[in-house]
Amino acid sequence: MQFKLTEEQEMLRKMVRDFAMNDVEPTAAERDEEERFDRGIFDKMAELGLTGIPWPEEYGGIGSDYVSYVIAVEELSRVCASTGVTLSAHLSLASWPIFKYGNEAQKRNFLYRLATGEALGAYALSEPGAGSDVASMKTVAKKDGDDYIINGSKVWITNGGVADIYLVFAKTDPDAKHKGISAFIVEKGTEGFSFGKKEKKLGIRSSPTTELIFEQCRVPKENMLGEEGEGFKIAMSTLDGGRNGIAAQAVGIAQGALDAAVAYAKEREQFGKTIAMNQGISFKLADMATAVEASRLLTYQAAWLESNDLPYGKASAMSKLFAGDTAMAVTTEAVQVFGGYGYTKDYPVERYMRDAKITQIYEGTNEIQRLVIGRMLTK
Ligand code: CAA
Ligand code: FAD
Repeated sequence: MQFKLTEEQEMLRKMVRDFAMNDVEPTAAERDEEERFDRGIFDKMAELGLTGIPWPEEYGGIGSDYVSYVIAVEELSRVCASTGVTLSAHLSLASWPIFKYGNEAQKRNFLYRLATGEALGAYALSEPGAGSDVASMKTVAKKDGDDYIINGSKVWITNGGVADIYLVFAKTDPDAKHKGISAFIVEKGTEGFSFGKKEKKLGIRSSPTTELIFEQCRVPKENMLGEEGEGFKIAMSTLDGGRNGIAAQAVGIAQGALDAAVAYAKEREQFGKTIAMNQGISFKLADMATAVEASRLLTYQAAWLESNDLPYGKASAMSKLFAGDTAMAVTTEAVQVFGGYGYTKDYPVERYMRDAKITQIYEGTNEIQRLVIGRMLTK
């Protein structure tokens, strides 16, 4: 077993950490407060090559691997979880399926633009009545000559409104349940495609979450990804890797909160000594650090499996489940270490705690991760 990162992976971590500290962290609290997405940060990520980390250079990527990708999401989320999910949704949800299932023309056009960061991506699966139960979606795509006409709506779409390229799932055969779903690449500006409500959220407030509306939206058949009826498989296999991106986000959030708690415990004095001198606090920090490290190992392992073409679906569901629960527990304890100050916006730990909650909900709630893992164990 190999636990050492390669020289390139270490270099990438240093580069992303510097970028995160210099260009992301300084405005993280303000963007959270103002619910403001900053396209300039995404553009800088593109300049650094982060928007196409695992894709070959011919498709605009930097030819690296999935371990490097999760390191990047982790480092960004360590200072700003919204920036972490912007990259995660863009790369593992919008770009990966085009890399995996796209034909050459789709890769040269859509994947290239996503990888270079010329375009920002989004993944549109969930609907008002179809969250965990994906197969019950109602959005339809009806064949009309050489086009498909999409009608329906999608909700909760990360990067919604600000993204340029959307991977949209719709039923081409409404009577066929999951076997009747197909995937389409839809560009912003396509007639009949508009944006609805932007959600006001507890956390990841500088990541826009928006409703998408399709009214007689005509999409050429060349924009279908994979074959008709292959959409459910495309959606599920995309989530297999995407969930590990959320695990990386959770690791970053938890590490950020842990770092803040350790620094504060060493500095804050009560009863004539630092609070870290109390075993009640140092044991808490020890448990937090152990859980963060275990989450990181699960996340890197799942990424390593994917990079090495080994099955990674179960590992990814496990990393998302464990790291998400860890992020929630660790950030809650971090607020506790800060006492009353932790409950205010004077320190970042309240933001970490609000941001952590989403990692137990999206890309499949943690109940759904247990369902996925349980089915794999018992099938
Ligand atoms: N890869 C390929 N195929 C898969 C698969 C996978 N990972 N998982 C299932 N399938 C196939 C099955 O083999 C089966 O194929 P056959 O019909 O040929 O037998 C078919 O798909 C149906 O599978 P299930 O019976 O397991 O389907 P189900 O309806 O019971 O649903 C589920 C399974 C796991 C609950 C699924 O609906 C699910 O993952 N729900 C959660 C939704 C989710 O994660 N949404 C995330 C939205 S994106 C997001 O949130 C973005 C963000 O965070 C930024
Ligand atoms: P429901 O499915 O209604 O679940 C409600 C509760 O019931 C949950 O606790 C759930 O775990 C539980 N439950 C449901 N079924 C079962 C079961 N079989 N066994 C046990 N418990 C069960 N979607 C996208 O497509 N693209 C995005 O970019 C995207 N980004 C998001 C960003 C944010 C901020 C949020 C909040 C959501 C986002 N989502 C996105 C949607 C997200 O994936 C769904 O919210 C999630 O899958 C849960 O669906 P739901 O909200 O409809 O909850």
